[in-house]
Amino acid sequence: ALYPLIAVVAAYLIGSLSFAVIVSRVMGLNDPRTYGSGNPGATNVLRSGSKAAAAVTLLLDALKGLVPVLLVKVFGERFGLGDSTVALVALAAFLGHLYPVFFNFKGGKGVATALGVLLGISGWLGLATALTWLIIAVFFRYSSLAALVASIFAPVYYVLCNGIVWNAETPITAAIVVMAMLLIWRHRENIQRLIAGKESKLGQKKADAG
Ligand code: G3P
Repeated sequence: ALYPLIAVVAAYLIGSLSFAVIVSRVMGLNDPRTYGSGNPGATNVLRSGSKAAAAVTLLLDALKGLVPVLLVKVFGERFGLGDSTVALVALAAFLGHLYPVFFNFKGGKGVATALGVLLGISGWLGLATALTWLIIAVFFRYSSLAALVASIFAPVYYVLCNGIVWNAETPITAAIVVMAMLLIWRHRENIQRLIAGKESKLGQKKADAG
């Protein structure tokens, strides 16, 4: 059980790289934990006014989910790693983002990293989920609402397309469901703000609360 353990720990450490904080620091911007929603994520970095920093944050936070999953899928067999390890590595990278060891375990909400993980599991699954996010974001202008809706649809897509587009594996299904539940839990303040009509819209610089 040494190889799965190494893979899971490595994925957690990679996930722990809070790119919202790192990219902001490198680009000379304020720490995203000090403004807006206070969340170290691409949405909040966008509130700094730098679209470039937000885009780089989104890309790197997604890559840290995508790369560990792809590595295990492509090279895992040589080390006897199967779908259970893919599922655990996916969760480990995601949990690293939520509870980063390098940042006092205070991380983000997991939207970009979950998207990377889903792309790694299946390109179509990632694209369908990203498209779901985009449609809600374009129509309602709430990043959080888009993430909540997309996270509910991701497990539905995975299970519904079983045997048609892919063969759903039980550990991976479980990982996607757990990821969705954690993502929703991390958005509990956003949910309260959405219900109260106080959530900040995309393109608005400051969050109304948080
Ligand atoms: O990226 C997380 C997003 O869904 C919400 O972020 O900063 O509006 O709480 P934020």
